[in-house]
Amino acid sequence: MDKARAKAFAGTMIGVMNGGALALMCSIGHRTGLFDSMAGMDPSTSQQIADAAGLDERYVREWLAAMASGRIVDYDADAETFVLPVEHQTLVTRAGGPLNIASALQNMALLAQVEDDVVEAFHTGAGVPYSRFPKFGAIMAEESAARYDKALISEIIPNIPDAVEKLTAGATLADVGCGQGHALLLMAKEYPNSTFTGMDFSAEAVTHANERAKELGLDNAHFVERDAAQIGEIDAYDFITTFDAIHDQAYPHQVLEGIHAALKHDGHYLCVEPKAESNLADNMDDPVAPYVYTMSTMHCMSVSIAGGGEGLGTAWGTQLAMQYLADAGFTGITTHEVRSDRTNTHFVANKN
Ligand SMILES: C[S@@+](CC[C@H](N)C(=O)[O-])C[C@H]1O[C@@H](n2cnc3c(N)ncnc32)[C@H](O)[C@@H]1O
Repeated sequence: MDKARAKAFAGTMIGVMNGGALALMCSIGHRTGLFDSMAGMDPSTSQQIADAAGLDERYVREWLAAMASGRIVDYDADAETFVLPVEHQTLVTRAGGPLNIASALQNMALLAQVEDDVVEAFHTGAGVPYSRFPKFGAIMAEESAARYDKALISEIIPNIPDAVEKLTAGATLADVGCGQGHALLLMAKEYPNSTFTGMDFSAEAVTHANERAKELGLDNAHFVERDAAQIGEIDAYDFITTFDAIHDQAYPHQVLEGIHAALKHDGHYLCVEPKAESNLADNMDDPVAPYVYTMSTMHCMSVSIAGGGEGLGTAWGTQLAMQYLADAGFTGITTHEVRSDRTNTHFVANKN
């Protein structure tokens, strides 16, 4: 027994315990607007911070104690004041956009809600269906909106051959697994001469997306409730996109084949998927690998299995994705890194 190793591991596990606890507190800090309020404040008392955020002081004081001891906010014990250092603000406030990790930490609370289901699934091998994650759509939409507001039009669309030119002139684009439709609506606004179709099997997401299109007065965008494994259209679109919507499919081969069939000859497919290598050994030094595999076990893999599928997992990775795209008939597959979307790989593939 290596005592030094045991001692070091005790430190690791205490870090895990504190990290898990702080993840929930950061999620609360995000949802209550506490981080956003503090970003505009000089060192302040718990009462001043609670007043600024419109919250109960006793709860805010206890939250601040966790934040201070967790070194997320600075604490002046003499003055009994707290401040969110400017260097920390981007990573925990809405102003940070896609860099706001506090927003992503809402996922930890989401996963905790299905822990009983996942434990049961370890025994039975069954999945945990989407219906067990009632808040998933809203959290996903918030996270992806921050990312795509920043990068979709300026960085991502230009990676697709001919897309800027054709969409400006007037083309057709479908987004499969569109969720609440934010990405599609951004494109519909930017390219008014083009027609955009969003598809998702969540009736709630589709209703939300259609209502949003109406509010924004975007007649060139509409959303339909459809299973991605049964697109059922042939040579219909100039472009098809999927944003984080293949790895959790029950039948990813079928979905990719359907996308290939639905594209026009010379059409292009943008497939955005979580950045990972296909082998665990190659992900060992990825700083977010434990988070990715956790999301996979407790959501992405398990919703796929619940649909009777193969349970690809969040970290199915670049090599396997390239293989699946080629198997579906795509050619000229390239990968792109996007500065404002560091957690995803962007695959661009052609139909010819
Ligand atoms: C991880 S979310 C991504 C949502 C959206 N693209 C975004 O980036 O915010 C995956 C989406 O795929 C949808 N989805 C999963 N399986 C599907 C299927 N078989 N058919 C249609 N939609 C599906 C889910 O309802 C969910 O909205």
